[in-house]
Amino acid sequence: MRPTPALRPSSVSRVLGPRRVPSFHRYVSHQATRSVAELLQWRPPVKADDVVVNGFVRSVRSMKAHRFVALGDGSSLAPLQALVQADHAEDLAVGAAVRLTGSWVSSPGAAQSHELHVSKVEVLGPSDAKTFPIQKKYQTPEYLRTMPHLRPRTPVNAVLLKLRSEAIASLTRFFAGRSFTQTHPPIITSSDCEGAGEVFTVTPANEASAPPNKGGDQDSFFRSKKYLTVSTQLHLEALAQAVGNVWTLSPVFRAEKSETSRHLSEFYMLEAEMSFVDDLGPVMDLAEDMLRSLSTNLIESATVQDLFSRPRNSGTDLAPADEVRRRWEGLMRQDWPRMTYSDAVALLQQKADLFEHKPTWGAGLQSEHEKYLAEYVGGGGTPVFITNYPRDIKAFYMRETQTSAAAAVPGATVDCFDLLVPEYCEIAGGSMRENRLEPLLDVMKRQGVLRPSSAGGPDQATAGGLDWYVDLRRWGCPPHGGFGLGFDRLLGYLAGVQTVRDIVSFPRWYGRCDC
Ligand code: 4AD
Ligand code: MG
Repeated sequence: MRPTPALRPSSVSRVLGPRRVPSFHRYVSHQATRSVAELLQWRPPVKADDVVVNGFVRSVRSMKAHRFVALGDGSSLAPLQALVQADHAEDLAVGAAVRLTGSWVSSPGAAQSHELHVSKVEVLGPSDAKTFPIQKKYQTPEYLRTMPHLRPRTPVNAVLLKLRSEAIASLTRFFAGRSFTQTHPPIITSSDCEGAGEVFTVTPANEASAPPNKGGDQDSFFRSKKYLTVSTQLHLEALAQAVGNVWTLSPVFRAEKSETSRHLSEFYMLEAEMSFVDDLGPVMDLAEDMLRSLSTNLIESATVQDLFSRPRNSGTDLAPADEVRRRWEGLMRQDWPRMTYSDAVALLQQKADLFEHKPTWGAGLQSEHEKYLAEYVGGGGTPVFITNYPRDIKAFYMRETQTSAAAAVPGATVDCFDLLVPEYCEIAGGSMRENRLEPLLDVMKRQGVLRPSSAGGPDQATAGGLDWYVDLRRWGCPPHGGFGLGFDRLLGYLAGVQTVRDIVSFPRWYGRCDC
């Protein structure tokens, strides 16, 4: 018997060519075990014996003496075809976890270049095909959402998991390449960073059922109210004053009673904070460079190519593959448009007939406005920065616009941006932070964040859980700014799923937290 040709990394790239193919299974249990993706790319001129592959049975087609088994392992959208003798195939039920050993030979079928002629079947995790809920036929996203613990086993959802993993690896490389320090700000916080009151409180179970009534919050676990973070920005600002530029990818939580396709109660936010930057330009440059680097790095990966080449019937909820490609290519373009809020409102007012909500200076942009701007200013696919929103509709920490351009608009604006893309609208938001003590306190007073302290004298004020944030302005607070990117929105947009609920394995939104 010919020994199995060893598939070492160097030979993998020679045999498989430039496309990067997931190879994690090689290291799992058996030296010669290969992932489905690797095997599909491997086209040896002569048959190769003793090939081992682990995976899950996606379907079984019966012929007289044989069974055609479609095997998937999450490494590729396409399954591997295995030919198994009928008497070896009795336990090969849909959903079963199996290890197949055999010869990798060129296939007479048009659908695949090679197939596995199986000599040994090991069923490592049996399945009952009759009750297994993930069937080969099309299943609606709504149905699949009812069983989040099994949904990742559908081929498309497995690709989405890989996309997330590869995006995190690429972004980590991007920030390391720019000497940003990756940090872990806290999840439990003392304040509602955005001031919008959309926080979940953190309470031990025994306190929730029997609230401490004598000392009130003083008797509670943390001695005062605590929340799940809605954004790590404020803590990142503290860390940026220690080590310069910082970033994090952190879960955040928002108790918004919103059932839109873009809102989750738990999601990941990528946040970056730059120290010693004077204006918003470099902050927008960073967001733009980051997303261009991500798309440029990943577009050739096997995972993204799977997204582009998926069959039309792989889910009617997915945006067409050419639309998805347009999104990736849009991110790769240079010089994304940057337009002020005031100019955007003027543009929208010229098209007022198109909208249900009248575009008005001073009001937030509705999603119909954002969609229009993303599509027409971006020219289809290129993200658009909208900058300098009115002071009154943005968070207290944003720095007021100082330039003479501010005089030409109806009211005060802040140095901030929203980054818009078609369909998903806002995927990131950022700003310069007010780094001077007095102007920060002024805005906090005006917005009701700062209140007279009952403990102190008449001049004493308290920012509740934000006193520490004010403190940062007392000692060495340079001009700084940053942004937060809705990581799940970005991935949903790049994958072409119609709702952010389908890009997260275990989505939580208003009224739903299944397992
Ligand atoms: O615009 P947001 O609220 O910005 C902040 O929280 C800033 N403190 C970030 C910073 O400057 N460091 O949220 C940032 C992004 C949004 O642009 C949006 O993409 C996403 O987070 N986002 C959500 N994604 C999913 N579900 C929700 N409920 C979201 N709310 C915001
Ligand atoms: Mg925002």
